[in-house]
Amino acid sequence: MHFYQGFWCLTFVFQGIISFQTHFEAHDTDILLASLPKTGTTWLKSLLYTITNRENLSKNHPLHTKNPHELVLQLDLNEPDVIAQVPSPRLFATHVPYSSLPDSIKTSNCRIVYVCRNPLDTFVSSWHYFLQFEISKETKPNEELMEEYLGKYSKGVSPYGPHDDHVLGYWKESIQNPEKVFFLEYEGLKTEPHAHLIRLAEFLGFPFSKDEENDNVVDEIIDLCSIKSLKEMEVNKSGKWFPWVENKYLFRKGEVGDWINYLTPSMAKQFHPMQEKLKKAGFSSKFCQI
Ligand code: A3P
Repeated sequence: MHFYQGFWCLTFVFQGIISFQTHFEAHDTDILLASLPKTGTTWLKSLLYTITNRENLSKNHPLHTKNPHELVLQLDLNEPDVIAQVPSPRLFATHVPYSSLPDSIKTSNCRIVYVCRNPLDTFVSSWHYFLQFEISKETKPNEELMEEYLGKYSKGVSPYGPHDDHVLGYWKESIQNPEKVFFLEYEGLKTEPHAHLIRLAEFLGFPFSKDEENDNVVDEIIDLCSIKSLKEMEVNKSGKWFPWVENKYLFRKGEVGDWINYLTPSMAKQFHPMQEKLKKAGFSSKFCQI
């Protein structure tokens, strides 16, 4: 990884990030999902796409034939000419921290949705993601390697990290500018999906009508985008998102607090300074507690 503009940048996406920062011109109608890897990006992509494309929620809905990452392109991973072909209103995603977003995103009226997740669950999710790749067959991951990764992650050395700085950048902006940045917690979305979806749709400018609420459209969207539903779709069982990323790698358990099954108390303790920093910054959400 390179340390670039205050965050850790994976070598293979470095060019893509520079290209995004140099060429991307936001439109006022754009919607941008921002997140750290393994915090619920795939889930939010499916929800944002479905909220804004909900005329037909039957088996013909595009989610049945396309992985959420094909429907909502990652700005840091795609060429400018591919991005330019996306029709308006455009939906995109990025892992780049707020401070490093191109100016046109900050100065235009485009909207940003940010999803965060408990750092411990995010770390455990990243670890399992890594285990599925070929490279992990060579490195033979064991508890020692996990501890090494955890030590780095908890000190901020992780893709697009430090984790806490990434969260705080978007969190502060969402407080100063709530019309611009909608801040979501993975945990909150899991426990109260209905209420969150209603607020999210309003923020996006696609509010649910009374008729839609009566027809259970909100719950239909929640069900369609649930991990259980996405996991069972053929496109997510067999397809590939990247030459080395099978779609099925994107869906594991999708649970809150799963870290307890993998991390010892002393491992979890290493995250205390990060969680203290979040608390001190006024971040009172559940997710900075252990
Ligand atoms: P776990 O590894 O804890 O199960 P990302 O999409 O940012 O890569 O995040 C991946 C995490 O989100 C994984 O967490 C994955 O299982 C979970 N996930 C994927 N789809 C989901 C969905 N529809 N609902 C809830 N969680 C989901």
